[in-house]
Amino acid sequence: MLEKNITEENIHKFVINFYTKIMKDNEVGPFFIDILGNDINNKKWQEHIELLSDFWASVTLGHHSYIGSPFAPHRQLQGLKRETFYKWLEIFFKTLDETYENETSMVFKETGSIMAQNFMRNLKL
Ligand code: HEM
Repeated sequence: MLEKNITEENIHKFVINFYTKIMKDNEVGPFFIDILGNDINNKKWQEHIELLSDFWASVTLGHHSYIGSPFAPHRQLQGLKRETFYKWLEIFFKTLDETYENETSMVFKETGSIMAQNFMRNLKL
């Protein structure tokens, strides 16, 4: 059943499902696997999942659990293309549609799209 209300629990579930799909994707997966490894249960991945759960809780629930600079790690990634961001967004939207009701997912989709555009602009892609 699709979620109507956003909670910390369903954000956490969403983030795990998103990165499980990302890891399997040939275009986006390697950028993560190079840095975090190929076992989603390892310590680095668990930290990434907690960090990104905090990030999305800050965006959607107004929590103050995420403190950081979202753009910084992306500057280090070699070989990012516009297509990589489009694929990231496609998987992001697909996972949202499997998790939340349409209206509920809008806040994630809008933020994700705006940030992907900003990242591409900053990276001159
Ligand atoms: C081409 C698409 C993308 C790729 C390949 C990518 C890859 C990565 C990688 C490798 C990290 C670092 C993981 C680590 O060292 O723990 C990271 C961190 C992060 N990403 Fe992305 N990312 C992409 C798009 C996005 C977008 C569109 C957003 C925002 C909606 C986003 C939000 C973040 C945040 C918040 C962090 C954590 C930053 C911190 O350290 O505080 N990413 N990403």
